[in-house]
Amino acid sequence: MNICCIGAGYVGGPTMAMIALKCPEHRVTVVDINEKRIAAWNSNELPVYEPGLDEVVSEARGRNLFFSTDVNGSIAEADMIFISVNTPTKSYGVGAGRAADLKFIERCARQIAEVAKGNIIVVEKSTLPVRTAESIRRILEGCGGEFTFQVLSNPEFLAEGTAVPDLLNPDRVLIGGEQTPEGDEAAKTLADVYAKWVPRERILTTNVWSSELSKLTANAFLAQRVSSINAISALCEATEANVDEVARAIGTDSRIGPKFLKSSVGFGGSCFQKDILNLVYLCEHFGLPEVAAYWEQVIIMNDYQKSRFVRRLVRTLFNTVSGKKIAILGFAFKKDTNDTRESPAIYVCRDLLEEQAEVHIFDPKVKASQVFADLQQDALNGNGEPNPNIIIEEDVYAACENAHAVAILTEWDRFRDLDWQRIYDNMLKPAFVFDGRNILDAPALRKMGFEVYGIGR
Ligand code: UDX
Ligand code: UDX
Ligand code: ADP
Repeated sequence: MNICCIGAGYVGGPTMAMIALKCPEHRVTVVDINEKRIAAWNSNELPVYEPGLDEVVSEARGRNLFFSTDVNGSIAEADMIFISVNTPTKSYGVGAGRAADLKFIERCARQIAEVAKGNIIVVEKSTLPVRTAESIRRILEGCGGEFTFQVLSNPEFLAEGTAVPDLLNPDRVLIGGEQTPEGDEAAKTLADVYAKWVPRERILTTNVWSSELSKLTANAFLAQRVSSINAISALCEATEANVDEVARAIGTDSRIGPKFLKSSVGFGGSCFQKDILNLVYLCEHFGLPEVAAYWEQVIIMNDYQKSRFVRRLVRTLFNTVSGKKIAILGFAFKKDTNDTRESPAIYVCRDLLEEQAEVHIFDPKVKASQVFADLQQDALNGNGEPNPNIIIEEDVYAACENAHAVAILTEWDRFRDLDWQRIYDNMLKPAFVFDGRNILDAPALRKMGFEVYGIGR
């Protein structure tokens, strides 16, 4: 088959690389309108940082994996087309701040309608609100093009930072299709692709809407676990309990399970907030305000967790951080990724800048230009000059030198192994550490002289 994937992002790129690696008999072309991104996929510095991805790409690229900006050409040749474009939360008009903005999806569907030929299978890969597949179907149907088609929903469950192992060994692959002979046939064709390396029993098929809703629900449940443990962390800070001990104790209950109970400065990433907002919008749309309010609380708790972190820091630093150097270690939304979408670090830095702190930011994988873009409204002062209170550091020790406080915002492994004595010696005293990920050995740091504040302890 000729497989085309529209959208060479964090989902499309790694997923197609894995399909190409495991299915040398198929030709996989990933297309994007972003020329720089495609050039990066064709270079030695991939636009997406994922452990193990370089190896996968270098084995398949040029053999049966191609990255191109020729969107129409690739669609025209394709038997199977994955849509993996971004679906941000709408920032304008009806549903602003809640509904997903489907303009990129619609544009893709219209493009497919214009140029596709023959018998095609369109696979919806992006996280989308329920009934998007139906919209794609209607656009394709309405165009009277020279092709026949089936639309499948095939949500991706990989987590960033572990994309390669998640793709290699997924808990399940979910395929939603129309429940007709043609729909079943299309679902089987897609299932056969995954079956090259995923055991058949892990490939689940459902109707289209169950598949779409499962993706939103999975992310909502995961985010809810984080907000739940974070809610308890606030109570732990007010009492003598330790949230990590509580998490361990409840995680041993097999009905609860130990994963995804790590209290933190808040969850981030491109999916959790967006998908819950989507779910909230859907519930409101279908006249279920109680259900909408229930899920919205997960986001409210996450916002509270991020702002609470800054409030605690400011209060501890004698109620002012104005003019004080604060070292920010980690800007990505989690470790092992260069992605900063919805990273709690963005909100923490904004609040600190609002308090007139001088933030010195170090992250091993996030580029300075990305940090500035994320802090945009604060990055430029009125004259269009860069905000002097945002300093990007190349060296972690320089970031901490003469700082009043160090804040860990991403759980990069290397932060655990820093020479903390050296950091202590070069900081202002009292030397404060705010561990937003509970990764440091707090007793050891206290012995050195640090004042350590974790989450929920
Ligand atoms: C609960 C806890 O499970 C137990 O660990 C604690 O010691 C006491 O409280 P219990 O209330 O006896 O135990 O029963 P449980 O099996 O937890 O069910 C509680 C309620 O939830 C029941 O009404 C049950 O029907 C309902 N339930 C449970 C569901 O509706 N769906 C489920 O998936 C599970
Ligand atoms: C998530 C889902 O896990 C994945 O299945 C889906 O396909 C996309 O969305 P991702 O956002 O890439 O993946 O990463 P994830 O590991 O889920 O982490 C999301 C956020 O939650 C991160 O900011 C992470 O730091 C935070 N988190 C996660 C916690 O704070 N505590 C935890 O215990 C787990
Ligand atoms: P995700 O995390 O879902 O993969 P990204 O934002 O990383 O999201 O990637 C989505 C990609 O889709 C972007 O690189 C964007 O340029 C691309 N894209 C959006 N619309 C189109 C389109 N109509 N044709 C081709 N590529 C598109």
